[in-house]
Amino acid sequence: HAADAHRTDLMTITRHVLNEQTKHAESRGDFTILLSHIVLGCKFVCSAVNKAGLAKLIGLAGETNVQGEEQKKLDVLSHEVFVNALISSGRTCILVSEEDEEATFVDPALRGKYCVVFDPLDGSSNIDCGVSIGTIFGIYMVKDKNEVTINNVLQPGKNMLAAGYCMYGSSCTLVLSTGNGVNGFTLDPSLGEFILTHPNIKIPKKGKIYSVNEGNAKNWDGPTAKFVEKCKFPKDGSSPKSLRYIGSMVADVHRTLLYGGIFLYPADKKSPNGKLRVLYEVFPMSFLMEQAGGQAFTGKQRALDLVPTKIHQRSPIFLGSYDDVEEIKALYAAEE
Ligand code: AHG
Ligand code: MN
Ligand code: MN
Ligand code: MN
Repeated sequence: HAADAHRTDLMTITRHVLNEQTKHAESRGDFTILLSHIVLGCKFVCSAVNKAGLAKLIGLAGETNVQGEEQKKLDVLSHEVFVNALISSGRTCILVSEEDEEATFVDPALRGKYCVVFDPLDGSSNIDCGVSIGTIFGIYMVKDKNEVTINNVLQPGKNMLAAGYCMYGSSCTLVLSTGNGVNGFTLDPSLGEFILTHPNIKIPKKGKIYSVNEGNAKNWDGPTAKFVEKCKFPKDGSSPKSLRYIGSMVADVHRTLLYGGIFLYPADKKSPNGKLRVLYEVFPMSFLMEQAGGQAFTGKQRALDLVPTKIHQRSPIFLGSYDDVEEIKALYAAEE
């Protein structure tokens, strides 16, 4: 009855991570406990997002964040839920959130060995119109648990132990890598469990979709403009690529991961470092792309090699199918 095994042998995310953790015996389950608290946060946000319209959870919170963005009620609610869940896990020592100017240093009594960077609600501009939004997170191991300073989260993305996102769309999908490939889990609301639905995700080597905000075209630099031009007017007689841009990084990256193609948030004259934040948007998505056989490039270097100096630092990013990113790398190399 192997064919029916999946019906009676539920591969939940917790079980899957426990299996993975046998490869990291040193964690003695700490990582699994941390992850179970991240999963709890995602389940909560999923239910809040689904009833946002009904529960008057849409609209502005009346504050602005360090990014200079007007915070939405769901931004703040999600932020608070994840901070509380992560602290109560007893497995974290520093938290960095898009919605908090300062990092949170966990009280020594509750301190653990993991540093978590996260975007509690990504795609906030899409909340009020019901378009998919998400949560993005990355996990570092603290360098010295007794000397906990901000340097523990100013590490290159390649040092991350794990990264993932949860997309609140037609279904609630959590995509995770702990460094051994990428797996997708879908929330079964009747069980309240994330079940393995997309084992060992690999991104197609080349794609037919490009994803960028064309509204910024006036301000792009040469290589970006040349690349997008090639997507639209290919010289080699191939057919033009399709443009798909949702404006929620989680949704645009999830489609890119499953269908292939390239997602770009380039630098432009107005924002020389682009818009997306290194620690909790660029690094986790780049980590996932590399684990799925794709790549991620900043216009200057491999994204995961970047060493951040500020916790809300931004970087241009080009990520997706291996061959597509190679093309943009060649255009930037020719520019040097
Ligand atoms: P956030 O809602 O967490 O601030 O992130 C929004 C980001 C990202 O989700 C998306 O890719 C990008 O903003 C869209 O920016 P533009 O509207 O400038 O295209
Ligand atoms: Mn924001
Ligand atoms: Mn975001
Ligand atoms: Mn956000």
